[in-house]
Amino acid sequence: QFNNVNLAPPDPILKMNAIYKADPDPVKISVGVGAYRTEEGKPYILNCVKKAERMMLDDPNNDHEYLPMAGLQSFTDAAVKLILGADSHIIKENRAIGFQAISGTGALRVGAELLNRFRKSIAYVSKPTWGNHLAIFGDCGFEVREYQYWDPATRGLNESFFDTLRSAPNGSIFVLHGCAHNPTGVDPTEEQWKLVAKIMKEKNHFPFFDCAYQGFASGDLDKDAWSVRYFVDQGFEMFIAQSFAKNLGLYGERVGNLTLVVHNPDVLPKMHSNLCKIVRAMYSCPPAHGAKIASLVLNTPELYKEWTVELKAMADRIKEMRVMLFDLLTEMKTPGTWNHITDQIGMFTFTGLTQNQCKTLVGEHHIYLIDNGRISIAGLNTKNIRRFAEKIDWVVRN
Ligand code: LMR
Repeated sequence: QFNNVNLAPPDPILKMNAIYKADPDPVKISVGVGAYRTEEGKPYILNCVKKAERMMLDDPNNDHEYLPMAGLQSFTDAAVKLILGADSHIIKENRAIGFQAISGTGALRVGAELLNRFRKSIAYVSKPTWGNHLAIFGDCGFEVREYQYWDPATRGLNESFFDTLRSAPNGSIFVLHGCAHNPTGVDPTEEQWKLVAKIMKEKNHFPFFDCAYQGFASGDLDKDAWSVRYFVDQGFEMFIAQSFAKNLGLYGERVGNLTLVVHNPDVLPKMHSNLCKIVRAMYSCPPAHGAKIASLVLNTPELYKEWTVELKAMADRIKEMRVMLFDLLTEMKTPGTWNHITDQIGMFTFTGLTQNQCKTLVGEHHIYLIDNGRISIAGLNTKNIRRFAEKIDWVVRN
């Protein structure tokens, strides 16, 4: 049996992370996986998270019972407020609900499963995008098409995105990155978002926002929700996948939420019941520990305040590294233009390095990145950035 099973291709991001971990060389640098690292190159447990965990340990009512299929309501309600704005009229009109999910991936997956059952159409993802978007929608049975997003000439947004929005069949699903586009670090300007919304409305397209980096683009949670809130104000129905992996540093706890925004509040209990049916058959109910942490941080004013300060500090450190990398490449007169490093936002920079240059960095210099040229700026710090810049300079010249 099973002789017909072929080897599945490894995930490029997770594979690179495993190769990095296995490398014993102390000079190794990981700019592959999108995970925040401190100035010391270590994972960061936020203070607000530590405090929430202590509160949980001291709480005599805390337990390890199952959550409901839809997760922890104090968390999902807070997550909806975080993305739509606490005073959003949509919330007051009972036109939005949250549904806990196994991080952003799970939110995309259960949302796509629901769409597959009740609103199937072609799913469009950006080219390039986070590779898992193609896999998630493909595995849910969608025909997945790509819209041009990256313009290599300008290292900015490709204007033909608007043409694809216009030429796509009416009612298509468009997966949009709410902020800090992964992998390019290029977000539409407010004017460009307005045009995207205008065309999508004319064409009756359905926005499915992926918001994995709220707070990481600007350091400000509200500012990073601008695109989503603009679409809400324009009267769209939509799904929003939220991850708390990056902004709360809860990567392995798998804390996510799917926010549903609709016109008619009566449909929400029905959609909710179908999401329950979907997750019951897949994994029964989501994990509790991380959701409890997130709920405490989101709902306890002192912890929330501390979170915003820590989040801004993470975003600021990334911005400093961008400037430092740009300055080093400029100082070394590395051939090419590098201002996109400081123009792009969020955790990633799409360097423009070729596949071969990336492979050389990995194979010969202990610098681990995926071969589309994306680097996670969070992997850089004042101790490793010079060596990193020198190696970039070397592969560009050779
Ligand atoms: C990334 O893009 O590196 C992260 O979102 C991690 C992942 O799951 O791919």
